[in-house]
Amino acid sequence: MSSMERYNRIAVIYELMELPMELLAFSSWRRMLFGELAGHGAERVLEVGVGTGKNIPFYPRGMSFTALDVSERMLSRARKRAAGRAALVLGDAERLPFRSSSFDACISTYVFCSVDDPLAGLRELRRVLKRGGRAYFLEHMRSENRAVGLLQDLLNPAFRLLGPEINRPTKENIAMAGFGIVEERHLLGTVFRFIVAEKR
Ligand SMILES: C[S@@+](CC[C@H](N)C(=O)[O-])C[C@H]1O[C@@H](n2cnc3c(N)ncnc32)[C@H](O)[C@@H]1O
Repeated sequence: MSSMERYNRIAVIYELMELPMELLAFSSWRRMLFGELAGHGAERVLEVGVGTGKNIPFYPRGMSFTALDVSERMLSRARKRAAGRAALVLGDAERLPFRSSSFDACISTYVFCSVDDPLAGLRELRRVLKRGGRAYFLEHMRSENRAVGLLQDLLNPAFRLLGPEINRPTKENIAMAGFGIVEERHLLGTVFRFIVAEKR
């Protein structure tokens, strides 16, 4: 089953499923990401995997942005939230429908755990960024702690039924896609991380 099918299937319960983590941590991490973004004065911003639009309230006032998702059912919820503030596009991160070097900054929150071919998606993200442009990631990935990593390997098949893979080497994937990693903050062990990467 593709990510599009998975997220179309769970769109109706997605926010309920995420609610505990949203209240405990995600919202404050989103605020941190958008604080960093605002500090860099980007004008053309792309969000990949916008989902139901949970980041939309965190965008600085007056900033317009483009946001894409592969799931029509997730995107239709984001459309309601955006209320005209964003250009919302149904599309695949692995084949972004944008010209090369057309954005100053890109954002993804909890997305590259789900994109079917994460390396292809990350390479596309890099392609559409202008040189010197930054990509801001909030992602969960395989822990550097051996025991936690093994537990993630064990639990991964169950999580995959719902949507994400929990044991991907996302930091390494970002570097492999050609980005330079500018900053990495560990938010919950080495499982949840904030990563800022640059197209050099
Ligand atoms: C876990 S949700 C995160 C949604 C949102 N970013 C958030 O922070 O709540 C992952 C999202 O990535 C989207 N996604 C998965 N694969 C994708 C792809 N190839 N292209 C675009 N979006 C994709 C899913 O449809 C889903 O909306």
